[in-house]
Amino acid sequence: MLFVEAHGAKIPAIGLGTWELSGNSCARVVEQALRLGYRHIDTAQIYENERDVGEGLRSSHIRRSEVFVTTKVWTTHFAPNDLLRSAKESLVKLRLSEVDLLLLHWPNPHVPLAETLGALAHARELGITRHIGVSNFTVALLGQAVAACPAPIVCNQVEYHPFLDQTKVKAACAAHGVAMVAYSPIAKGQAKKDEVLTKIGAAHGKTAAQVCLRWLVQQNVAAIPRTSRIERLSQNIDVFDFTLNDAEMSRISALASPKGRLVNMATAPEWD
Ligand SMILES: NC(=O)c1ccc[n+]([C@@H]2O[C@H](COP(=O)([O-])OP(=O)(O)OC[C@H]3O[C@@H](n4cnc5c(N)ncnc54)[C@H](OP(=O)(O)O)[C@@H]3O)[C@@H](O)[C@H]2O)c1
Repeated sequence: MLFVEAHGAKIPAIGLGTWELSGNSCARVVEQALRLGYRHIDTAQIYENERDVGEGLRSSHIRRSEVFVTTKVWTTHFAPNDLLRSAKESLVKLRLSEVDLLLLHWPNPHVPLAETLGALAHARELGITRHIGVSNFTVALLGQAVAACPAPIVCNQVEYHPFLDQTKVKAACAAHGVAMVAYSPIAKGQAKKDEVLTKIGAAHGKTAAQVCLRWLVQQNVAAIPRTSRIERLSQNIDVFDFTLNDAEMSRISALASPKGRLVNMATAPEWD
């Protein structure tokens, strides 16, 4: 397994996304993923599955120190006291003494960013999390966050797949030494229908989804695909035994379109 590194954090390049997984089936998928070799699990307060993710971690019997666990603070908890309280609540639900990465889930213009970042850095000092970061931050917001945060920001988790051009955000992450983590990395399953990805995959004996994930990993971007199917769990982590050449990388990048964004919110920032 490769890692994407930033400010001392070693983020396994492929993780398991858990949005929309819940209950016993979520716990079983997490357990199975860990048994298959996943060492990075992504959850969030708003997914309401932190208990199930924790249950899956425990039943896998993989040592805690071997797994990189990320959770995200929801935007209604960005006032400093709320942030600390909710982060502690996440630990209780996960039944962990700390997480590896604690993210601000989306920007929230109604709470001063410096205050929220101060609380996030405080959570790190208190040992609630080993590292801190942000999600859905634009180039401008990332610059503000890096300048205002008393501790290093190790990650910006953003939507990224071949149908969405994220050149600007990627360059900003690199300039600030921030790791980029791609969510919806197989375009919510849409990648499998794409002819170019399928054709490139066929040349390597791989699926379109695997080509997508390989294209991200080769850019030093971590990816957190989500599936509830066991055969796809294996498939999505099996992307380290082939290489896309420069021409293939460029053909995949050329699939980006202005309509490529799949995840949005009424309160989203003005995207780059
Ligand atoms: N920070 C944020 O604001 C944010 C926003 C969105 C997502 N996320 C995180 O990113 C994770 C992944 O994003 P996502 O869930 O939106 O989308 P995704 O991982 O790009 O796609 C998931 C969809 O693709 C299908 N799929 C998975 N593997 C496949 C494969 N090998 N071949 C064909 N289809 C496959 C899944 O169906 P099956 O289950 O049937 O396989 C599911 O419908 C989330 O779970 C969450 O942890 C974060």
